[in-house]
Amino acid sequence: MCGIVGYIGKNQNIRVGIEALRRLEYRGYDSAGVAWYNPEKREIFCLKKAGRIDNLEKAILESNLDLNGNPFILHTRWATHGGVTDENAHPHWDCKKNIFLVHNGIIENYKKLKDGLIKEGHKFSSETDTEVLCHLIEKHFQGNLEEAVIKALREVRGTYSIIVIAKEDPGKIVSVRLSSPLLLGVNQKEVFVSSDPSAVITHTRQIINLDDNEIVVLKPDNFHILKEKPSIQIDWTPEEAQKGGYSHFMLKEIMEEPETIENAIRGRLLPEEGNVKLGGLISIEDKLREIKKINLVACGTASFAARVGEYMLEEYAGIPTEFDVGSEIRYRKPVIDKDIAAIFISQSGETADTLAALREMKEKGILTLGITNVIGSTQTRETDAGVYTRSGPEIAVASTKAFIGQLVTLAMLTVFLGRQRDMSLVTGKRIVSELSKLPELAKKILKSAPEIQKLAEKYKDYKNLYYIGRKYNYPIAREGAHKIKEVAYIHAEGLRAGELKHCELALIDEKFPTIALCPSDSVYEKMISNIQQIKARNGLVIAIATEGNEEIKKNADDVIYIPKTLEMLTPILSVIPLHLFAYYTAVALGKDIDKPKNLAKSVTVE
Ligand code: G6P
Repeated sequence: MCGIVGYIGKNQNIRVGIEALRRLEYRGYDSAGVAWYNPEKREIFCLKKAGRIDNLEKAILESNLDLNGNPFILHTRWATHGGVTDENAHPHWDCKKNIFLVHNGIIENYKKLKDGLIKEGHKFSSETDTEVLCHLIEKHFQGNLEEAVIKALREVRGTYSIIVIAKEDPGKIVSVRLSSPLLLGVNQKEVFVSSDPSAVITHTRQIINLDDNEIVVLKPDNFHILKEKPSIQIDWTPEEAQKGGYSHFMLKEIMEEPETIENAIRGRLLPEEGNVKLGGLISIEDKLREIKKINLVACGTASFAARVGEYMLEEYAGIPTEFDVGSEIRYRKPVIDKDIAAIFISQSGETADTLAALREMKEKGILTLGITNVIGSTQTRETDAGVYTRSGPEIAVASTKAFIGQLVTLAMLTVFLGRQRDMSLVTGKRIVSELSKLPELAKKILKSAPEIQKLAEKYKDYKNLYYIGRKYNYPIAREGAHKIKEVAYIHAEGLRAGELKHCELALIDEKFPTIALCPSDSVYEKMISNIQQIKARNGLVIAIATEGNEEIKKNADDVIYIPKTLEMLTPILSVIPLHLFAYYTAVALGKDIDKPKNLAKSVTVE
């Protein structure tokens, strides 16, 4: 989840690249860098800095380097491997400072490749997975850059889009993609290559989208793709282009939910062993085997992921687990024994209440773990160990894809801790196998977006909503209600379905709809009873049910279907229609979706 740009053409000043890079800052913003070929010195110059693009600009202004040159490559980073430092920022280079490269994606087998290259004498200067590509290309380089890139990539496993230049083969850019976006922007005097149309849209609307494994060689006056491809005319504004053509970041991020699952599980599932490999936990594996209880801590949307985690960890890992929000646990006096682990869940890793609770727990001397999206955030620095959710930058204030990343990570953690204890090989294998199917199942749900939009329009004018669920889907009822309150400003409550009869049924009438999460699982029959209690009082019901369940139509006014999966994993699917429903309701009501009133993305105050 980074932004990359390359330029070759008549313009000889790297500023044009910096401007293009600024339009990619929304994709990643923890570091930025540029490398350019200076024909006078016959050198590639490179500047890179941790922090926003402003830091890079400052470094450029302060440097004595000749800023003229061509071609140039640029990068804005969203860290996935290695902390946020100048060294880990892109571009990266080889031992001879001949090959310079920017990369978006993940190199899965980088560890093995790196060990081999070190043995062959290569010297690394960063902790990133990307740098192995530079040394691999160096290994195969014999004067022709595209040939070296082709040979190097045969050894690589992962997802990437890369842009490469070489001092010893100047006057060209070589670029290639595999499962990571890459496109060309062309006009009379120049060619851009980028991960994103927003980088090029102010220069040209002529776009050529590259396909997987296509290698492109760009020269100042032409470009050559290994296959001929027609260009297309795009009519997005620069603003729309940042959102990938979607009308809001929230919708873009919901549409990225399948990819978020893929990123979270990539390289981590061990299907044969019925287990998972979580690199961030290796150093404390033995300590984790000893823990007798888990305390989960989070705020906002992350708190509903934690509540799902509570069910998962107790049922499948067999570890007593307790959840509380950061703002409560820090003022309570929880009974803390030494053999407890506290797990903090946060998209940003900067939420003040979660961090305060983390510091409280650390003072008590217990093991602390983080489930975090933002690499290098305070939470990742202050916990003993942790797992990254790899959800990529989330821009909309209302969290959607990051929540999915948290749920998937908690499911993997459950397998890991369960397999350290009594979870059988068969159960481990079943969960791992079902996890690997989730991206496709999630894509299927997103295809029903138009029907969910129609439902949102039908129900948008009701002033109150209940969301009900049991067991794994009770926290999802909470998340559904939370989301519609955040973006559509409709009063909603997420309830344990079994508690309705003790109070909330009193409010039900024909003006009070309920969204009932009732997948075909161990509490399905109980959910049907609860739905009937609502129908008997003339309440309206929208059911979220498992595909193939025709019976539910007799009990509900409207039904949204989700595919079948393991009960423990149903929250990862059942929440997707609720995210879409909240989004489309807010659209129908004309709300400011990406920046809801009175709310902030990262709450760094108590
Ligand atoms: C704010 C955001 C929410 C988020 C919560 C926790 O309230 O608006 O979207 O869920 O903070 O944030 P965290 O970064 O800790 O997950």
